[in-house]
Amino acid sequence: MTYFRRNIEKANGYEPGFQPTQADVVKLNTNENPYPPSPNVLKVLAEITPEQLRRYPDPYGNVFRKAAAELNAVTPDYIMCCNGGDDLLTIAFRAFCDEARPVAYPIPTYSLYPVLANLQNCKALEVPFDSEFNLPAKLANTEAALTIVCNPNAPSGSFVSVDELASLADEISGVLLVDEAYVDFAEANCAGLVKDFDNVIILRSMSKGYSLAGLRFGYAVASPDLIAGLVKVKDSYNVDAVAVTAATAAIKDQMYFRENIEKVKKERQRLTEQLRAIGFETPESFANFVLAESKNCKASEIYDKLVHRNIYVRYFDKPGLGDKLRITVGTKEQNDKLIFALKEIVSE
Ligand SMILES: Cc1ncc(COP(=O)(O)O)c(C=O)c1O
Repeated sequence: MTYFRRNIEKANGYEPGFQPTQADVVKLNTNENPYPPSPNVLKVLAEITPEQLRRYPDPYGNVFRKAAAELNAVTPDYIMCCNGGDDLLTIAFRAFCDEARPVAYPIPTYSLYPVLANLQNCKALEVPFDSEFNLPAKLANTEAALTIVCNPNAPSGSFVSVDELASLADEISGVLLVDEAYVDFAEANCAGLVKDFDNVIILRSMSKGYSLAGLRFGYAVASPDLIAGLVKVKDSYNVDAVAVTAATAAIKDQMYFRENIEKVKKERQRLTEQLRAIGFETPESFANFVLAESKNCKASEIYDKLVHRNIYVRYFDKPGLGDKLRITVGTKEQNDKLIFALKEIVSE
């Protein structure tokens, strides 16, 4: 006997990365930015008034919409604020998918997509990437109501060109959601497509590039018609007054943001080179993490040995990933500690 719907009873639920509570760990497992958010964020947080908390927030987060619109060269009616990028994914599944309206996405990718498909009781058409993570041609012929491409992809860090995604948007009959949670660390983005295609939604997160994972803020960029439909599905107050204020301060401080991104990219390059130097196959990444594979040691064993040394990376026991570790780009000091430990482990 259960009180739950059958698919909820059977579901495992999303498995978030481990959040250790000790302070002395090297935490490279959930793709947080290793640097703090803009000082302007802390300043506006200190200035929050009791009145801002007493009243309900602006249901649309209009000050943020305006700032995000300017940054993406669109008008504010192309923007919807969300309680993290994950909120937009939930809204999109609820808006477009049901028993008769499947979702499609290439795999391996973000492990939340199948979880949301199950909650929505919709079929998930999973199309495997090739070994180089090229966009599978089959994705254009699935009849899905919602097609999701994570770009840069997690956990591979690979990047599909804007032209390829434009062609995909053109070929499919449903909606294309480009999950750009990590795009701040890449060299191009798909925001421009929303002006040419009325079926494209861009997902952005403030968790990674803007160092605000704890705040929970993200946004959608899409044609005003799509935004109007998504707004019907969202919670009435899906972004709170404190989060809107802080996220707006962050997105407006582009100088701080760009410096921060450059630091992460420089460390990504150094980490990639050092991993290669100690025998890990590490393809180029366009995100704030790398996917590394050791030819000599089992990834699960390396993972356990790192945990033993208080170093946390991510291991996925999943098809195509079982021999790899996803490592978030940390500070220089964190990355050095990781490399030192890995050198020891691979030579044991
Ligand atoms: C691929 C991908 N998309 C979306 C998200 C959601 O990010 P958030 O809800 O923190 O904005 C994440 C978070 O890890 C992610 O990895």
